[in-house]
Amino acid sequence: MDACGCDAFASIFDHRQAERDRDRYQRQGPDRTTAMLLEMLRPYVGRGSTLLDIGGGIGVIDQELLRAGAGHAVLVDASPAYLEVARHEARRANALNRMEFVDGDFVHRAGSIDAADIVTLDRVVCCYPDAVRLVGLSAERARRAYGLVLPRDRLLVRLGLRLENLLQRLRGRAYRAYAHPNAMIDELAASAGLEIRSEKGTFFWRVVVYERREELAAAA
Ligand SMILES: C[S@@+](CC[C@H](N)C(=O)[O-])C[C@H]1O[C@@H](n2cnc3c(N)ncnc32)[C@H](O)[C@@H]1O
Repeated sequence: MDACGCDAFASIFDHRQAERDRDRYQRQGPDRTTAMLLEMLRPYVGRGSTLLDIGGGIGVIDQELLRAGAGHAVLVDASPAYLEVARHEARRANALNRMEFVDGDFVHRAGSIDAADIVTLDRVVCCYPDAVRLVGLSAERARRAYGLVLPRDRLLVRLGLRLENLLQRLRGRAYRAYAHPNAMIDELAASAGLEIRSEKGTFFWRVVVYERREELAAAA
């Protein structure tokens, strides 16, 4: 496996999976936790606001926030298959001129990626071994809000991820999922000047939106 595990992404986040995700989105809209995140981000979506969606997959958050009034979205993903489907869907939605697609590992590409009003990582932190760099580099690019969906700190969740990793190993795949401690993620966000604004979730997933401290001060 390479340092980031991105070669493993291509095998699991492949064309078939991307098409399945697209079909599910077309049939029933955003997944439950993505819908929660979108709802929690609505207050930050103004006319012309910008989005940086890291590990954005087929571009659900991008499509939804552009429709809600955002002006521009940058979708970064390490899976070429997901990016291809995301680009196709953006064309279908007539949003191609308001979107930019960046192929590769965000941690390696971060130096050339601008800050945005809203930064999202929906079920992405759990794919990446180096959460310190992924969260550190992405959090500092959030001008107003930073939205994450990540596995909860729970024994059953950790066991579930271990089981998934065992299945991946048995299938001969290099992909691994990671249960990074939620407290560490909160500390990394705090070091970048972000405070928790709202939280929701399911038994497995934690959906959390952090806000830049100046925003909180202005709202008080
Ligand atoms: C589980 S999928 C989630 C996709 C989408 N956000 C969703 O919730 O439907 C994780 C995605 O993150 C991407 N990814 C993981 N780490 C990444 C990184 N460091 N840079 C860019 N993309 C990354 C993978 O390629 C994959 O498409």
